[in-house]
Amino acid sequence: MNFSEYPIESLMYITNRPEIVFTHGKGSWLYDNEGKRYLDFIQGWAVNSLGHCNEGMIEAMEKQARLLINPSPAFYNEPMAKLAGLLTEHSCFDKVFFANSGAEANEGAIKLARKWGKKHRDGAYEIITFDHSFHGRTIATMSASGKPGWDTIYAPQVPGFPKADLNDIASVEKLIGAKTVAVMLEPIQGEGGVIPATREFMQQLRALTQKHGILLIVDEVQSGCGRAGTLFAYELSGVEPDIMTLGKGIGGGVPLAALLAKKEIAVFEAGDQGGTYNGNPLMTAAGYSVISQLVAPGFLEGVRARGEYLRDKLLELSAERGFQGERGEGLLRALLLGKDIGPEIVEKARLMQPDGLLLNAARPNLLRFMPALNVTTEEIDQMMAMLRTILDSL
Ligand SMILES: Cc1ncc(COP(=O)(O)O)c(C=O)c1O
Repeated sequence: MNFSEYPIESLMYITNRPEIVFTHGKGSWLYDNEGKRYLDFIQGWAVNSLGHCNEGMIEAMEKQARLLINPSPAFYNEPMAKLAGLLTEHSCFDKVFFANSGAEANEGAIKLARKWGKKHRDGAYEIITFDHSFHGRTIATMSASGKPGWDTIYAPQVPGFPKADLNDIASVEKLIGAKTVAVMLEPIQGEGGVIPATREFMQQLRALTQKHGILLIVDEVQSGCGRAGTLFAYELSGVEPDIMTLGKGIGGGVPLAALLAKKEIAVFEAGDQGGTYNGNPLMTAAGYSVISQLVAPGFLEGVRARGEYLRDKLLELSAERGFQGERGEGLLRALLLGKDIGPEIVEKARLMQPDGLLLNAARPNLLRFMPALNVTTEEIDQMMAMLRTILDSL
């Protein structure tokens, strides 16, 4: 079908989209309505952990769709229990609540921390978050986010989210008071431009939160589920948080997210938290397939190896073109361009012929790479060659 034949005008405007309609995908490749293919280093915004239309996920969802789609969250179902068991087996957490988006999982984390504060810290409710952080698009998670401009779009904000500076422990300490219940951060700020919290900062945060008897919450919606080369990014720092949220990669492309907590923190009472789709067997069956593939022997070692390969290639390019290096962990990386040419590169990459390339500029002066975790080194080479062609044309 031609682009003009789609009833695009019926869609509510929320952002500028290019005039193409994607019709199908496989692995690292996406195809549009004109049959053009694109090498995808965005993968649904770090969502399709196993690439487009992963066979294991398809099989799991096809099988589950014929068995049971939603018995209601008031009852247990098999995939929900199996996925919770898999997540607690492979993390430091004991309890899991499933949600449908990263923002909703973070809303759950905020509610759980406030509930815990009511019970154990004299009603403390403030959660210290960070400048340039991103926690979602609900009113509370926008208030928790440190994205410039977000304090005014839908004002008034939800109160109780003072902002500190990432990797600056003194900026956190000075905000802690009687009302503080937790510190919440992304172990790697994703939307902020792929900025890792240092191992030292994570350890200082753990010690500081323990000293004050408050909670440490990690938002691993983007950094979790193998993206950083370990199953969860908190593992890189050798600390155990009290609460973790997951989204994006856990569903491999379908709406699934999770809130995990240590058992002593899991203080919800009947009726405190829920949702009609939460823990539905169709999505949790997909999530079980994804996590099973991530924890299969050798898979995460492969992610680390491909992450190092991508890092080396980006460093080579940076040296060659006079850029400012790269940063990130595993297969969440950024090339630091040193000038605001990111959006132009992204646009030219998509328009390339015969094949396009999908890239993202999380900030105008950098490119963010979030390919499928099973991307091949040949595909990385292909992406680098396409990127060089674009840079030559600037
Ligand atoms: C760290 C982090 N938290 C939360 C979210 C929000 O997730 P969702 O878009 O699924 O609500 C995102 C999305 O980019 C994210 O990167």
